[in-house]
Amino acid sequence: MAQEARLPYSSADQGWLSYTKNASLGGIKELTQIAVYGASEVLDSALAELIYGIYEMTGTLPVIVSDPDRQASSLIRLVLLEEIVLPEDWMNAARMKDLGEEGYAIRQHPENGGSSLYVMANTDRGLLYGTFHLLRMLRTGQELDRLDVTDSPRNPLRMMNHWDNMDGSIERGYAGRSIFFQNNRFVEDKSRIWDYARLMASTGINGIAINNVNVHRTETQLITQQLLPEVAKVADIFRRYGIRLFLSINYASPMELGGLDTADPLDSRVGDWWKEKAKEIYEYIPDFGGFVVKADSEHRPGPFTYDRTHADGSNMLAEALEPFGGLVIWRCFVYNCLQDWRDRSTDRARAAYDHFKPLDGQFKNNVVLQIKNGPMDFQVREAVSPLLGAMPGTNQMLEFQITQEYTGQQKHLCYLVPQWKEILDFDTFARGQGTEVKKVVSGEVYPYRSCGIAAVINVGDDHNWTGHTLAQANLYGYGRLAWNPDLTEEEITGEWIRLTFGGDALVSAEIEPMLADSWHVYESYTSPLGVGWMVNPGHHYGPNVDGYEYSVWGTYHFADCHGIGVNRTIKDGTGYVSQYFPENAQRYESLETCPDELLLFFHHVPYSHVLHSGKTVIQHIYDTHFDGVEGVEQLIGRWRKLEGHIDERRYRKVWERLHIQLEHAKEWRDIINTYFYRKSGIPDAAGRTIY
Ligand code: GCU
Repeated sequence: MAQEARLPYSSADQGWLSYTKNASLGGIKELTQIAVYGASEVLDSALAELIYGIYEMTGTLPVIVSDPDRQASSLIRLVLLEEIVLPEDWMNAARMKDLGEEGYAIRQHPENGGSSLYVMANTDRGLLYGTFHLLRMLRTGQELDRLDVTDSPRNPLRMMNHWDNMDGSIERGYAGRSIFFQNNRFVEDKSRIWDYARLMASTGINGIAINNVNVHRTETQLITQQLLPEVAKVADIFRRYGIRLFLSINYASPMELGGLDTADPLDSRVGDWWKEKAKEIYEYIPDFGGFVVKADSEHRPGPFTYDRTHADGSNMLAEALEPFGGLVIWRCFVYNCLQDWRDRSTDRARAAYDHFKPLDGQFKNNVVLQIKNGPMDFQVREAVSPLLGAMPGTNQMLEFQITQEYTGQQKHLCYLVPQWKEILDFDTFARGQGTEVKKVVSGEVYPYRSCGIAAVINVGDDHNWTGHTLAQANLYGYGRLAWNPDLTEEEITGEWIRLTFGGDALVSAEIEPMLADSWHVYESYTSPLGVGWMVNPGHHYGPNVDGYEYSVWGTYHFADCHGIGVNRTIKDGTGYVSQYFPENAQRYESLETCPDELLLFFHHVPYSHVLHSGKTVIQHIYDTHFDGVEGVEQLIGRWRKLEGHIDERRYRKVWERLHIQLEHAKEWRDIINTYFYRKSGIPDAAGRTIY
């Protein structure tokens, strides 16, 4: 029963769901009673959250009333719209329809004068989201008087991808061990999973894949009868928070689990095996979301082995899941990872488009192609993938990386919301001006059946979930943007700070610019002008300019004594530029119009090339690297002012990480500057120390 729920479930940091007493009640005197119209597990969660939040903020435990007096003051009604008839003038059929399956309305009854608030939705999930919205307003001290809010998500799929392995490790995880797995089993104590589900639902996440896209031997077993009962326990927790569970699967499962000698998608034995498997899974998990599939990528098995296409491969799985409403989320991160560095004609950036674009229209309705935001791999700066918007007849979703693999591994502060905003707002020109990525993946441009956004998550079992406390802002910001990509960076940042640290004006005044600047600061002292990849191979932390230069991965910068950059032009480069719609292709093709920050992604230029900024490439490299370190010093200066304004534990942890960042930023600065000074022989115009 909701009334008995003890929230939170674990002793972990509750992040943006931390409530403190004495919050203003948005101009309302008190909130002491709750009436619920409807019944379900999800509604129980909404109720438990509401009771808990109000109690924590006011010190008064609200009571649940079954026969609420219409004139009662201080009443909140959680209303499933099918349960009661509301006055036509304020909840008419059209407005109800607008709310859809996940939207909600919150308002005060006009006749009730007092503080009677209605949270209304067509479904229990809508009510859960509405409840979290109300709590957010209370916690951030927003005015509730005459409240009239309607909201619904822009993206149907708002997913998290875990890269967790069953041994408890997390691929590219920087915040401890898995919250799901330990020693090749599921964790016994599920309290972190409960709190995790609350955090996710509060930002609107509705699908979570719990295991790594690289599905190794043990994780292949997740879809067997041995492990499905355990998977189902996690799905049961998620379900109460409106979240569907997904699994990453091994494409070769029919061989590894089913004893077949092939995984050929066109072999009927393979299709039948998957159909049986799907039936079995849905017996355990009736609302199972579906499969996330990394196939023919970085040594993972896939349809290429059998000379079949990715449409053949994904459609076969889709057919198996179709009767149950399941989805196949098929990743487009497919490229040759055994490239010859001597070969200047092959270009990894081309790969996803070259593989998938010709297959447009061949995928089933319940296949969704998941496309990384850039054509390479989550660099601090790279171009937006030209595949986004290029397939009118195939469901697409966008993949972001919240875990900071290439952006400082949660030791460095790097707030990614500004980067994601740029990507979401990028105009693909797929249907003329105004065809931004956010409209493509939300299904506004083409009649997609399923679409949205997924992200590789940054959490582990660290007390604060994300290692760096301020990296929680990326987690929160991602959820909010997946819900509504039109929220501004300032709205999201301001909200997160107040929810997480309370209403101290100084805290907001200092953390806001820290977050806002951090991506540019990180970009300044790492690889320049969009070229990427100057990291240590394997773990991807710290500078190593030539770390990947003579390797098989297709990630080169081609620096020599004359110049640097990858020529991806149509005229005399790899032709990658031609994958964009003409407006973007023209802009990137020409040195005149190519934006500075992507110059070396698209062009190979001499060090003396003059940027739009008026600086030469080499001077830009020197200047940004000196500036970057100063930027980190400024971050530290701001944080220092918050001593005593933030609890000691969080203050100290962030302080420590900022100092690690400073040391490592200096390392980046000196290695990059020295490398290019030695290559080019051109001194720094400002005469600063370069080694
Ligand atoms: C990157 C990352 C890998 C990951 C891969 C993927 O290459 O380094 O760890 O498996 O992306 O997205 O599949």
